[in-house]
Formats: sequence, C-alpha cells, structure tokens
Amino acid sequence: MVTIKTPLQIAGIKKSCRLAAQTLQYTASFLKPGISTEFLNQKAHQYILDHGAIPAPLNYNGFPKSICTSVNHVVCHGIPSPDHFLKEGDIINLDVTTILDGFYGDTSATFGIGRISPQAQKLIEVTKKSLNLAIKNIKPGRYLNEAVGKTIEDYVHSFNFSSVRDLGGHGVGLKFHEAPFVFHFDTPQNRIPLRPGMIFTVEPMINASPNWQVFIDQQDGWTVFTQDNSLSAQFEHTVLVTPRGHEVLTKI
Ligand code: MF3
Ligand code: CO
Ligand code: CO
Repeated sequence: MVTIKTPLQIAGIKKSCRLAAQTLQYTASFLKPGISTEFLNQKAHQYILDHGAIPAPLNYNGFPKSICTSVNHVVCHGIPSPDHFLKEGDIINLDVTTILDGFYGDTSATFGIGRISPQAQKLIEVTKKSLNLAIKNIKPGRYLNEAVGKTIEDYVHSFNFSSVRDLGGHGVGLKFHEAPFVFHFDTPQNRIPLRPGMIFTVEPMINASPNWQVFIDQQDGWTVFTQDNSLSAQFEHTVLVTPRGHEVLTKI
C-alpha cells in the first residue's frame, strides 16, 4: 500500500530531509586523501545528534554504523571502518538518513577524492544526470515506471553503463523503507500512477560496465559489490509528488 502523506506529516518529513541534506554537505566537506571512512561516520553521527535527530542506519537490521560509505566498486551499504583510508582517485558515496521527530529523510551523493579518472568522472556525471532526468518527469498522472525506471535505464544504457536491478528506491517518511519499491529500470511492477502526497526516494546505482549484477559480502552481510569489479556511483533524493509536479525535499 502506497500511502498519501498528510500536510502535517509532509511538514515533518521536509524538516528531516533538510537535515539529511545538510548532514551530507557537512560530512562531504571533510573528504580528502588520508582520512578514514570511520572519521566521516563520526562527523555525520555527531552532527545529526547535535541537531536533535537520530541516524537511521545505526542498528537498522543490525547495521553497525550511522551512515553508509561506498567506495569505488562498492555499489551501496559500505560500512565505515577505521582501517579504510581514502586515497586520491577514489570515488565515494555518502548515504545519510535522519530521523527527526519520528520522520525520515534519505539522501546520498558520490564524490571524487582529488584527481579522478575521466571514466570515473563520466560515471558520476551520468549517474547524477539520470537521477535529475527522472525527477523532472515526476508529476501526478504519470506512471512511476515510465517517469523513473525507464528514463534512468535508457539514459545510462546510451553510455554503455548499467542500472543495478537488485536494489532500488522506496517510499519513505514515516518509516525507513515503505512501499513502493522504486525500480531503476522499466517494469510493469512499477506501473503505479503518481498522486499528490506520495513521498519516495529515487537513488540510481549505476555501474561503469554493461553488467548490472552485484553480490553481497559474505563476511559482513552488508557491503554490495559490482560482480565484475567495475566502478559504481549513486545519487539519491527524497521526492514529494505535488499537485503541479514535484518537490525535491533533500535539496539544500
Ligand atoms: N540509505 C539506504 C537507502 O537509501 C539504506 C541503508 S540501509 C543501512 O535506502 F542499513 F545500510 F543503513
Ligand atoms: Co534510500
Ligand atoms: Co539512502
């Protein structure tokens, strides 16, 4: 069941989304070669607490940290570690989800560390553009699969990249993950007409190869890797469907 949020709920979710976006920006300001992913986790964790909120990932289904840090061929759900130091040429996705007054906001972005390869730069650009092209299509009466999934899939295919199929976006706001599951490729399962008051994430994970397949780390049970070791990038926004179109709630 896809829920329609009330004006009061929307107001609360907007505040949480704004804090998530601010946390992401704040945490990214520390990115440089030589810092650990655990250092980023601590910065985000403290910032969220200082603003009266809770980091949603911490203890979520046993996840051990407050944000996800996904480097290079890690697709998503990377676990911050004091032993993992960033180096020039890496790309890293920071994924922040806040709970403020019980309401959830979810956003992520991918950054380059120092000078990165032209291939990595292109991947980041294409991934961000695919998200923005999808968001532009969001308005009442459009179908979710055409507005979002098909748009992302068609765009990234034109660069010989692929859109990961095993993970997706999600309704969000009153819980971390709500209906609908948002596929980043065209499927009749997402033939859902958009209606004002729906809130969901769009968060394409794009691989720098035509192979969309992934696997999960057997040791930690979380880290998702590209099957062929190719780079992967991701951007995520929480989006509200409005009577006239949409509003991106995690934009600063
Ligand atoms: N923030 C991720 C998402 O966009 C979910 C992370 S789940 C966690 O849906 F447990 F790894 F934090
Ligand atoms: Co999400
Ligand atoms: Co997220």
